[in-house]
Amino acid sequence: MASFQLRDILLGVATAATQIEGGDTNNSWYDWYCQGKIKDGSSPLRATDHARLWPEDFDRMRDMGVKTYRMSVEWSRIEPEKGRFDDTALAQYRAMLQRLNDLGIRPLLTLHHFTNPLWFEQMGAFEHPDSTSLFLRYAATVVRALGDLVSDFVTINEPNVYAVQGYLYGLWPPGRRSLAATWRVMARLAECHVRAYPMIHQIRKGMGRTDTQVGVAHHMRAFSPLNPKNPWHRLCARLLSTLFQDRLAQAMLGGHFRFPLPKSKAVKPGAYYDFLGINYYTRSSVRGFADHVRPGVPVNDLGWEIWPEGLIACARSLYKAFPAPIYITENGTCDLEDTFRSRFIYEHLAAIAASDLPIRRYYHWCFADNFEWLEGESARFGLVHVDFATQQRTVKRSGRFYAALIQQNGCDEALYETYAANQSYPSRARIGTSKKSPGTGRIC
Ligand code: BGC
Repeated sequence: MASFQLRDILLGVATAATQIEGGDTNNSWYDWYCQGKIKDGSSPLRATDHARLWPEDFDRMRDMGVKTYRMSVEWSRIEPEKGRFDDTALAQYRAMLQRLNDLGIRPLLTLHHFTNPLWFEQMGAFEHPDSTSLFLRYAATVVRALGDLVSDFVTINEPNVYAVQGYLYGLWPPGRRSLAATWRVMARLAECHVRAYPMIHQIRKGMGRTDTQVGVAHHMRAFSPLNPKNPWHRLCARLLSTLFQDRLAQAMLGGHFRFPLPKSKAVKPGAYYDFLGINYYTRSSVRGFADHVRPGVPVNDLGWEIWPEGLIACARSLYKAFPAPIYITENGTCDLEDTFRSRFIYEHLAAIAASDLPIRRYYHWCFADNFEWLEGESARFGLVHVDFATQQRTVKRSGRFYAALIQQNGCDEALYETYAANQSYPSRARIGTSKKSPGTGRIC
């Protein structure tokens, strides 16, 4: 039977400030664009113009029945110069959160989602010894200013992706290629989270609020040996998982910093989470120290394997070590023509419905097509189509499917037949992905 019922879960959508707001030249990703690094030459300055169009976007979320919305605030707007906080930027975020509350959409607020203010980037970002205190001061300012309107926080999005892309592969700002720096940055971000955790609780307690929830959004991949019978493949899969995600989880959630993460003197072992935030997209098939996609498997338009079982496998392994309610803080796919996204959603939510894990929230990544980092505007992950030239939004077929799923809190046979049954996945990427940055030289 192609149907399922969801229990005790809020369905929502996710975004990140730099990917949607537009209009900000003061952050590390605008600078990366200026260095000519975005593959299709598009700029985060345009994005989806959400800084202006948010009322319309929120109304559309309401119309789709979205129950919860994960969004982020932009540090470079809030603290445009070191130590100078901008009341206008904070007032705008207040207005947004107020509106979400009025619409009955529960916000989950991310404090750091990949971008830094230029001044922070230029001083060495999270490699600088002062970075923890600067991040904490910024986080405290946000929570004091907005904490009466939002109770749920993600401190940092995907420290492993931020560190690996920016410090190992050199594809993202600051374009470094150093293994030692990668571990240092991951450890620093873990320390920032651990220290922000009690601080956020304390600030909100001071405001008379006891319903605070703080977590991270941890990017997890399903690492599987390409050939499960090959001991080398098995060993490499275990090692990659340990180095990319497991050690980091132990540091962020439990305060245990183990090799290769440098120890942090400022952190004691403890429990630094109220929920487990997991961003899940794909599986890596392993036969050495690099990612592979096994031949013949379904993939999305970026060539990422589509493997719904992996979501549960990742959630189970994290939950075993850190039992807490699970929020899938991101899950989604790059589907340029929206020809298989409904099937993707169906299969991932069906896996959630069938599992015995306490998965309490699911945020589809993402609400509307947006600025997809290195891929710029060329990779579409949205439930809503955006014509970037006109900023015209159109709810996609998958968006209508997701709205119907929210309404049914599950999927009956008829819904499945209408939207997902006839969809099939590609077997080849339509967008070229390369581990080389375009590097065309400065354009602004
Ligand atoms: C990030 C998002 C990104 C998405 C799709 C996640 O790793 O948090 O910002 O757009 O993946 O690539």
